Amino acid sequence: MPGEETTDLLEGAKEVLQVNDRGGWTVPAGRLYPHQWLWDSCFIAIGLRHIDIERAQTELRSLLRGQWANGMLPNIVFTGEAARRETNLWRSWVNPYAPADVNTSGVTQPPMLAEAVLKIGQLLKPPERRSWYKEMLPALISYHEWLYADRDPHQEGLILLLHPYESGLDNSPPWISELRKHSMPWWISVIERLKLDIAVNFVRTDTKHVSPGQRMSNVEAMAYWAAVRRLRRKAYNSEALISRSLFAVEDLAFNSIFIRANNCLRVIAKTAGRQLPETLADSMSRTEKALEQLWDEESGLYFSRSFVSHKLVQEPTIACLLPLYSGGISRNRAQQLVGLLKRRSMFQASWPVPSVPLSSPYFSPFKYWQGPSWVNTNWLIIEGLKNYGFTAEAKSLQDKTVKLIAKNGFYEYFNPLTGEPAGAPNFSWTAALTIDFLKS
Ligand code: GLC
Repeated sequence: MPGEETTDLLEGAKEVLQVNDRGGWTVPAGRLYPHQWLWDSCFIAIGLRHIDIERAQTELRSLLRGQWANGMLPNIVFTGEAARRETNLWRSWVNPYAPADVNTSGVTQPPMLAEAVLKIGQLLKPPERRSWYKEMLPALISYHEWLYADRDPHQEGLILLLHPYESGLDNSPPWISELRKHSMPWWISVIERLKLDIAVNFVRTDTKHVSPGQRMSNVEAMAYWAAVRRLRRKAYNSEALISRSLFAVEDLAFNSIFIRANNCLRVIAKTAGRQLPETLADSMSRTEKALEQLWDEESGLYFSRSFVSHKLVQEPTIACLLPLYSGGISRNRAQQLVGLLKRRSMFQASWPVPSVPLSSPYFSPFKYWQGPSWVNTNWLIIEGLKNYGFTAEAKSLQDKTVKLIAKNGFYEYFNPLTGEPAGAPNFSWTAALTIDFLKS
């Protein structure tokens, strides 16, 4: 891209992060998402480190306000009056470990924190780097320990998730299919059959900001709301939830990100001159080996797996490519995933990378996590490609992503066939990761 255009894009990205700054933390998008989200803030900090490293550090520190006493990092830290409706849905106070002075959700999100901490540290001088890592280490260790203690009850190495929001890919097909099998309340099925779900439009706030055709369906939204209420009724106690339900998924995207996060944690601890607790280190090496259990030889794809039945949920999505980011797969497997990225019926779109394959029956080019291309998943794939030495593929995907944003703006997601923008405008992680692309 010519120098002038790059400068404009960089300035535009900085402006988005300025507008979304709430003093100490950043909203994903002003109107649609007015609180602090876990993996959003990590991507935001990864971009911010290039232009204002102190703000990047503050962004991550402020996430820790929401950390529960058992180590859980919630996907949302609520703020302000606007949060009354949401806090009343989640009621984090029903769990004894939730912080007393901040309202949060009761579930987590992909563990991107270690990567963000590590990447910020790499831009600091050695003494500051060590003290930054020392400062963040206790929170990181207790988060990773919580994931094992609470979400890997059989010590299989794979982390289970209890709500689709935890995957970050909210209405991704494997979650919809598991939800329909194991967690669809009868009254929602009746509403669906009678086509009465249209009434939900009156209470939904997201579709007031973004066209309903670009968000999850009313039936999905109702089912997700009911799933939150179920978690709340059990006070977010995973043992009680797992013993009474089949709705628990060993999510492929989450576990791929977790493997990379564990590696980041090892580097952070080593640089800080600290040792990781032995049991944590043992669990971490189990996870790396366990990922291969999610491989399906017949289709040549990785999938998420049902925690209870141990059956793979054979719905291909963008998650199929994320083992590349984990860094924990063989070169041969990585090569197979690059093949998928280039295959027309799978992920080779005009404006890559679609969140489900083009041939999937779920594919719909504007529909949230069921088709559109997202900048954060592109970033994860690019990082993975670089790590495995697929330099040309990484460069091509990065150039396409930057071009897509330069042409259409800092939107939440994009139609992979036409490049048209969708979802929220001025979306923070799109802006932050653009800065990372331009500066790295
Ligand atoms: C949506 C996305 C989720 C993101 C949140 C805030 O719920 O699915 O990944 O964290 O918005 O941007």
